[in-house]
Order: sequence, then structure tokens, then C-alpha cells
Amino acid sequence: MNRLLAERAQGSAVTDRIVRHALTDRVLHWLMAASTLILLGTSFLPILGWQFPWVTAHWVSGFVLIAAVLFHAVRALFWKDIRSMLVGAADLRDVLALARLNLRLTDAPPPRPGKYSPAQKLIHHAFTVVVLVALATGAVMMAKIDTPWWDSNQYILSDATWGVIYVLHGLSALMLITMVMAHVYFALRPEKLLFTRSMILGWITRKEYRAYHDPDRWQVK
Ligand code: HEM
Ligand code: HEM
Repeated sequence: MNRLLAERAQGSAVTDRIVRHALTDRVLHWLMAASTLILLGTSFLPILGWQFPWVTAHWVSGFVLIAAVLFHAVRALFWKDIRSMLVGAADLRDVLALARLNLRLTDAPPPRPGKYSPAQKLIHHAFTVVVLVALATGAVMMAKIDTPWWDSNQYILSDATWGVIYVLHGLSALMLITMVMAHVYFALRPEKLLFTRSMILGWITRKEYRAYHDPDRWQVK
């Protein structure tokens, strides 16, 4: 009982949890992650020599990713706090403070961000641009294959335009590999495991909240 009271006082009791990612957001993240990994696997494994009928699995997961991204974007824009993901002057100040810290120009403690750090905002926006390019070009490329709803027709665009579409699709896919690798690397680093736990179970502790976030910049209800 005493231990529980002491933990309460420190704000580290198990009951003292802060929701970082609601269940809907977690399901969306893992749906987007799974469909992206299937898209990358079905496109690059055949190039590496593993031959299997990949086209149907590829475009079906493409449609799943389109639906998940649309759902997420509408939900985030209208039901969540868009400002938590926008880059502002405070983020630039954080980056400069971190640079000074890494160059040993100051002994000040590292800046505490709002809900997302500048690095997380950067990878979010990079994913947004690159995933949207891959999805938009992939959707156009659907004209080239037979589906239950339409037959292939490659003449809707000129050869030159198809060339641009293919380069953009391939380039965004290659960029995605590197970005996913960097994203997963950081997710698995020991000091970031609290965020990985929050993307699986939903919560961080109040103690972690105070240690990693500025309560004025991420106000939890
Ligand atoms: C299309 C335009 C997009 C918009 C407008 C948008 C907007 C946002 C916003 C405002 C947040 C912060 C929500 C919060 O924590 O309160 C967020 C979080 C997040 N975004 Fe996006 N996003 C977009 C695209 C994407 C894409 C393409 C992906 C992944 C492929 C993605 C994955 C995520 C994830 C995993 C989170 C954290 C989970 C959460 O909502 O708590 N977003 N997004
Ligand atoms: C399969 C391995 C993956 C793991 C382990 C993973 C892990 C995570 C974790 C732990 C977070 C939460 C960070 C936070 O609480 O702020 C996160 C957020 C996010 N994830 Fe993933 N993820 C994976 C795959 C992906 C893929 C494939 C995409 C994109 C297509 C993606 C896009 C995002 C975005 C945009 C965010 C929001 C920005 C951020 O908070 O870093 N994730 N991911």
C-alpha cells in the first residue's frame, strides 16, 4: 500500500498512463505499415530473383494503403490536433538547441518537444509526400492491368508520360525502402522503445510524459 502511494506520488504507477495513440490510430498505423511492407516485398523480391505471381497482391495492398491513408488524413485533419504535427518556429529552435548540444557548445538539457519531435515530424511529412507519389502513380498504372472492373488500356497516356509515371513510381518505392529502414531502426533503439510500446499498447507513463515532453506544448486532458 505504502509502495503504491509512493509510486502515485512520483507519478510512475501503472494506473498513471497517458494515451499517446488511440486504438483506431494504432490499427491504422499497423495497417499502413503492413500494406507498405507487402507492396515493397511484392515489387522488389521478384527483381531479386524470387519469382511468384506478385501483381494481384501488389495492387490489392496498394488499394488497402490508399484507403488507410485517406481514412487517417481525414481523421487527423478533422478529429485530431493538426498543430501537433505541423513544423513551426519552436521546432527550428529545438533543432538549433540539439545542434549546439551535440557540438558541446552548451550544457543545457535537451529541449522537450510537444507530442512529436522535429525528427518525427520530418519523417511523417517525408512519408506523406513519398507515399502519396507512389500511390498516385500506382493508381494510374492500374490502367495497364486487367482487373474485375476494367480491361487493360495502355493508350490512355503517351509513352513519354508513362515514362515519367514509371520513374516517379520506382523512385518513390526506392526512397520508401530507405525511409522504412531508418524509421524501424529508430523505433527499435532503446531510448525510443517507449514510443514503440505506445504504438502497440497505446500509452506512455506520466513520468515518461514529463521526461520527454513539454507539458505546455503537448497538453493532455
Ligand atoms: C495525407 C496527408 C496526411 C495528413 C494530413 C496527416 C496528418 C497527421 C496528423 C495531424 C497527425 C497527428 C495526429 C495526432 O497525434 O494528434 C498524424 C499522425 C500520424 N500519421 Fe499522418 N498524415 C498524412 C499522411 C500520412 C501517411 C501517408 C502516413 C503513413 C504512411 C501517416 C502516418 C501517421 C502516423 C502513424 C501517425 C501517428 C499516429 C497517430 O495518429 O496518433 N500519415 N498525421
Ligand atoms: C514495421 C515496422 C514499423 C515499426 C516498428 C514502426 C514503429 C513506429 C512507432 C513506434 C511509431 C510511433 C512513434 C511515436 O509514438 O511518436 C511510428 C509512427 C509512425 N510510423 Fe511507423 N513503424 C513501422 C512501419 C511503418 C511504415 C512502413 C510506415 C509508412 C509507410 C510508417 C509510418 C509512420 C509514421 C508516418 C509515423 C508518425 C511519425 C512518428 O511518430 O515517427 N511506419 N511507427
